[in-house]
Amino acid sequence: MSHHPELAVLSAKGAGMSFAQTEEFLQAVLDGIQDVIKIVDENYNVIYANRAAKTETRRYPMELVGEKCFRGFYQRDESCPFCQTSHTFEKGKPMNVSYTLPLPNGQKRHVELSTFPIKNKEGKVEYVIEITRDVTRQKTLEEQVRKHERLAAIGELAAGMAHEIRNPLSSIVTAANLLSAEAGMPIDEEQLLLLEVVKKEAQRLNAILTDFLNYARPREPQLSPVNLNEVVNETLDMLERDRATNGHVTIQRRLDETIPIVEVDPDQIKQVLLNIAMNGVEAMPQGGTLTVATMFCNGRVHVQVADTGVGIPESELPRIFQPFHSTKKNGTGLGLAIAHHIISAHKGEILVESQEGVGTKMTIQLPVKPTSRPKPTP
Ligand SMILES: Nc1ncnc2c1ncn2[C@@H]1O[C@H](COP(=O)(O)OP(=O)(O)OP(=O)(O)O)[C@@H](O)[C@H]1O
Ligand SMILES: [Mg+2]
Repeated sequence: MSHHPELAVLSAKGAGMSFAQTEEFLQAVLDGIQDVIKIVDENYNVIYANRAAKTETRRYPMELVGEKCFRGFYQRDESCPFCQTSHTFEKGKPMNVSYTLPLPNGQKRHVELSTFPIKNKEGKVEYVIEITRDVTRQKTLEEQVRKHERLAAIGELAAGMAHEIRNPLSSIVTAANLLSAEAGMPIDEEQLLLLEVVKKEAQRLNAILTDFLNYARPREPQLSPVNLNEVVNETLDMLERDRATNGHVTIQRRLDETIPIVEVDPDQIKQVLLNIAMNGVEAMPQGGTLTVATMFCNGRVHVQVADTGVGIPESELPRIFQPFHSTKKNGTGLGLAIAHHIISAHKGEILVESQEGVGTKMTIQLPVKPTSRPKPTP
């Protein structure tokens, strides 16, 4: 093939040929294809490689010509184990194969290789065209879809189970209640304590199942105009009433009275706040301060919950929103997963800043409809 395109086009014009009839046109077509196209002879010598070969090998196609295919493309000393070129030479038929190559970073590359024979007048295969296509992205997407489908099916199954378990569980609680309350029952102190354990654990199980169902079958937010300061106050009042927390934790409120009204589901947002605030309290077993602030910033209302607790190691951060990830003895690991679900359904975000031994700040950001923005203060 000529490697002086301008000359070739000139001579083509002189001969009355259109560009589409020139050698350069053919070259441009082959170079325009993203798949690697190479032609090899019976001894695996590269006769031709298109431009895509450069992306693959970081070498110019011309440098690869004359080299063994396995050497130039795969740095091997003999033909590749997945190679089917010799079959195409023998059988004279096109073939397809998919293979996986390990990458230095531990990931995998998925490739599809097709080979086609080029025969001479006698019908003998002289060369083979090899076309390799990188299908890694496609494969990864397919795998993700399959994984999501599998997870969705398992989630549905688990949600069904959780729902079914709740009925017998409530019968257990009722029976335990009846047993401990029934007058004249021959039941001693110790048995009464055991019954309390049954009741407490059954209630805990029920709470886990409720959390799980909230996570697996989230209900659509029922939007209404809400002042988030009110939701914050109600949640913190509830937390303060809880004797287990107010003993050692100081709760501070820094609420901006001028924040605009947002369209949210107040019950769901209360649940999010409670989950995040509870985490803050649980992170300060030796006591500390939980500061909850509201503000309006860039068209969003922010609710910040900051604690002075143990903090989250950086390596943990990517996992804290995953369902069932918990570092607590009695944690289910659904608090933040539910919070994330709910805030996403509100088209908002939760941002986390944390430093080990210093504390954690979680910021819930919820969008405000442009019409309900406050008037700029003069
Ligand atoms: N404020 C915080 N300070 C330190 N660690 C936190 C904080 N918030 C969350 N975490 C970490 O993230 C994990 C997941 O939190 P999440 O609320 O989802 O579950 P949990 O609190 O362990 O259990 P659950 O909320 O279901 O009772 C926690 O176990 C904890 O390790
Ligand atoms: Mg929690």
